[in-house]
Amino acid sequence: MKNKKINKIVKRISNKIRDSKFENSTYLVGGYVRDLLLGKISADLDFVVNLPNGGVELAIFLWKNKLCSKPIIYKSFGTAMVEINKIKIEFVMTRKECYRDKNRNPEVAYGSLIEDAYRRDFTINSIYLNISSNKIQDLTNKGRLDLEKGVIRATSNPSLIFKEDPLRILRGIKFAGRLNFQIEENTYKAMIENVDSLQFIYAERIKEEFLKMLIDEGTCYSLQLCFETSAIKYIFPKLTHLNKDLLNTDKKMESLPGELVSRYVYLFMDYPDLKEVKENLIYLKVHKKQIKEILAIINIIAYIQTEHEKYNEFVYEYQNYLVKAMDICHLLGINISNESKIVETLGLFSNRIYPLNGRKIMEYLDLKEGKLIGEYSKKAMKIWIENPNLGEEELINQLKTFSPAQTDKK
Ligand code: CTP
Repeated sequence: MKNKKINKIVKRISNKIRDSKFENSTYLVGGYVRDLLLGKISADLDFVVNLPNGGVELAIFLWKNKLCSKPIIYKSFGTAMVEINKIKIEFVMTRKECYRDKNRNPEVAYGSLIEDAYRRDFTINSIYLNISSNKIQDLTNKGRLDLEKGVIRATSNPSLIFKEDPLRILRGIKFAGRLNFQIEENTYKAMIENVDSLQFIYAERIKEEFLKMLIDEGTCYSLQLCFETSAIKYIFPKLTHLNKDLLNTDKKMESLPGELVSRYVYLFMDYPDLKEVKENLIYLKVHKKQIKEILAIINIIAYIQTEHEKYNEFVYEYQNYLVKAMDICHLLGINISNESKIVETLGLFSNRIYPLNGRKIMEYLDLKEGKLIGEYSKKAMKIWIENPNLGEEELINQLKTFSPAQTDKK
């Protein structure tokens, strides 16, 4: 379905540019072509136009011809983003390499198609599809062969490729894992030599690449390469024990669904310091709600492996995360002690809502506002958690026998 939608978009653009200056100057490059040659579908539509300011001009041309949304133009990058049928599409002119130091904004200059090919990261990402003629152009002459042989190779001098953008080290690892490719020797050496430049990369960008590694196929291989190259230091800078034995990176990881929470849970569940894990997840800009879920599930998994007398308090606290935690345990083959009791207790709380609140307690017990209400509320909640069948009045009756340290009677 998605495949058809994407192909239709490409067809519409190639029809629209017929007899315009963009005909035979517009190419797809990167993920789309790589995946096409691998027989996969890619939703990544990166167009490159071999004309000065061609990307921005083509986007405006298509917008004026009512083919896409109004372009968002990033002047300093010479790129334009549009949407067609809710699919995001990027247009950029062919560019040549402009070396820059790590603190300056990128300099963008028009270049030939071949210059554009050699400024890209890997040969497999440097294959072009002319959307007018449908012809593939492999300008490094290595892209197609590397795709066939399963090789990740820098397009030109690997050290310069990684100096230009150190994030490419993580991208190379990601592709190696995802496609189960080998990293070519000189490319790999340059990754190791330049790995410390990852310290200059914003956490937001590291997060993006790492997340893809974590949820893609081939996670274990990617993680192994992260350790081998020492890139792991820049992904988990808040972990003081970056020891492979303390992070779960084995094949069991791949038996879990390819989604962030489950994968992070497995990775960190045996790490000795959850505070550090939390700090690192914050550093990697993981969403607050997801961090809470990851930590809750790690706590649950540790707890449910041993037998407990009662589960009420525990189940009440973690009820929103328990089912997922147990699913993860099943997939990982972790034994849950007394699972039936946990499920039974979970059933007790489902569809039941704690019936009291501070105001009701004040009214029933004729109390005035004050610290004591907090104490009564806590007690009432405790009683209810032990017996969630109790209704409002039964709870109040039990509360009447409760005598806190001081009274605030009206
Ligand atoms: N590119 C690059 N260096 C980078 C990022 C991107 O040379 N640091 C080039 C590559 O040619 C890449 C293309 O820009 O293929 C598009 O980049 P992007 O969409 O980020 O990556 P994909 O290769 O499509 O990777 P993914 O499938 O993970 O999205």
